[in-house]
Order: sequence, then structure tokens, then C-alpha cells
Amino acid sequence: MEQVDLQKGAEKILCPVALVGAMAGDKHNVATIAWLTQQSYHPVQLIMGIGENKYTYEIIKETKEFVVSLLDVSQSEAAVICGGKTGRDIDKISAANLTTTPAKEVQVPLIAGCLANLECRLVETWQSGDHLVLVGQVVAAYVDDSKSPLAYYEAKLFKPEMKP
Ligand SMILES: Cc1cc2nc3c(=O)[nH]c(=O)nc-3n(C[C@H](O)[C@H](O)[C@H](O)COP(=O)(O)O)c2cc1C
Repeated sequence: MEQVDLQKGAEKILCPVALVGAMAGDKHNVATIAWLTQQSYHPVQLIMGIGENKYTYEIIKETKEFVVSLLDVSQSEAAVICGGKTGRDIDKISAANLTTTPAKEVQVPLIAGCLANLECRLVETWQSGDHLVLVGQVVAAYVDDSKSPLAYYEAKLFKPEMKP
């Protein structure tokens, strides 16, 4: 095995691709997030790495709730649009042509056509390195088993070939 640059090594971690949504008043914003995983069974919690300067974090810091929408392989265009521009400048819901439905436990809508939608409440924020770690407790979950996960691998979107 060949020794490589630290970042190049870390890019071999296979990540999911999600849209993380938050509500600033009546404005719905989403950002593409790949640094995301489950961190606890009881209660069910997840962690994500997010830049402190992101508009999405600015909103979550105030509202303390968000929705994680795990993308289907067919939704790579939404991942690119929502990960390429800040919601401070554009309405990403209409730019990415996303359809939303109301959530049950939080004010942030769910995204249609995804593999899963996870309604979350912010329980903790840790500062470490150049990104924040947000811990979210999942308070409602929805899945569509006909969908397949879009992934992030080697700093690119990746479509796993094997159907789970
Ligand atoms: C595939 C992909 C994965 C991304 N993963 C992350 C991530 O894990 N954490 C993060 O802070 N930004 C991530 N980004 C960048 C944000 O999505 C991007 O900065 C976005 O414009 C932030 O939007 P906002 O300012 O509306 O919150 C990713 C972008 C792409 C395209």
C-alpha cells in the first residue's frame, strides 16, 4: 500500500449525500452535506461537519432544528446546485426544482423523492478543526425503500453499483 497525502487518504471514506434543510422565518434553505453519520442508538443521533460560515448553520444556531434528506442516485443535480451556492443569494428550493411536504415535529419541510428524511433537533455543537460538529437527535424518520443512496467518494459524487 502506498503512503499518500492525508486529505487523499480521508477522501477514501465513503459518505452519504444529504440536503440539510433549515427555516429562516418562512424561508426554506438547504445545503448539500456529505460529512454525516449516525453517532448514537439510544437516542438515535447523528453528527455532521459543517462550516461555521454556512448560511444553513447560521439558521440552525437560532432555530435548533433541521431536516436531513438523504439523496437518491437520481438527485445528483440537486446536490450540485445546493452545494454550489449559498442560500444568502438564491432560493435553492426553486433553483433545484425541489418539491417539499410538511414535517411533523419540526418547522422545516421534508424533500420529496429522497431515500430518507430525518427530522432533527440540535442537541450539541462542538468546535473542532475547521468545521463545527453538530449533533442532531432524530425525532421523526421517513424512508422510501425503492430509492438507492447517492454517495460522495474521492471528493466527487458517486453512484454505488450494488443495490442494498
Ligand atoms: C457534494 C458536496 C458535499 C458537501 N459537503 C459539505 C459538508 O459536509 N459540510 C459543509 O460545511 N459543506 C459541504 N458542502 C458545501 C456546502 O454545501 C456549500 O458551501 C453550500 O453553498 C452552503 O450553503 P449555505 O450557505 O446556503 O448553507 C458540500 C458541497 C457539495 C457539492
